[in-house]
Amino acid sequence: MSDNLQKLFEAAVKVRENSYSPYSKFPVGAALQTPDGAIFTATNVENASYPMGTCAEEGAISAMVASGRRAIARIVIVADGQGLVTPCGACRQRIREFANSETIIHIGNLTGLTARFSLDALLPESFGPDNLLR
Ligand code: THU
Repeated sequence: MSDNLQKLFEAAVKVRENSYSPYSKFPVGAALQTPDGAIFTATNVENASYPMGTCAEEGAISAMVASGRRAIARIVIVADGQGLVTPCGACRQRIREFANSETIIHIGNLTGLTARFSLDALLPESFGPDNLLR
């Protein structure tokens, strides 16, 4: 793993420790990097009104946008366990807004990265900003 990717992985592991997930007890951390190298992290934030919970990816994208940035170069998502925790359908679409078909989504657990997918692999034939052009 490149030093830089290792740093992004560690940022996702670290932010996951702050997860507010008392209902699912399933902490998730996300760390994304923009083309200029800046890193934005977030974790999932659940709510007693269950559907209101937000995903880790969602928070990281909000932080990126709040900083004035508009492009995801790559993103790491970390959760505990054997299974691959790939982004939910809604978050694939959120990532789509600020990424391109080749953007890599790295998936990991607490011991390291376990898989990588292009956005196109996770969200083929996607709908995005260009589709609104007439
Ligand atoms: N979750 C995320 O934050 N990101 C994912 O990619 C998958 C799921 C959260 C939502 C909820 O708080 C918990 O994990 C269980 O679904």
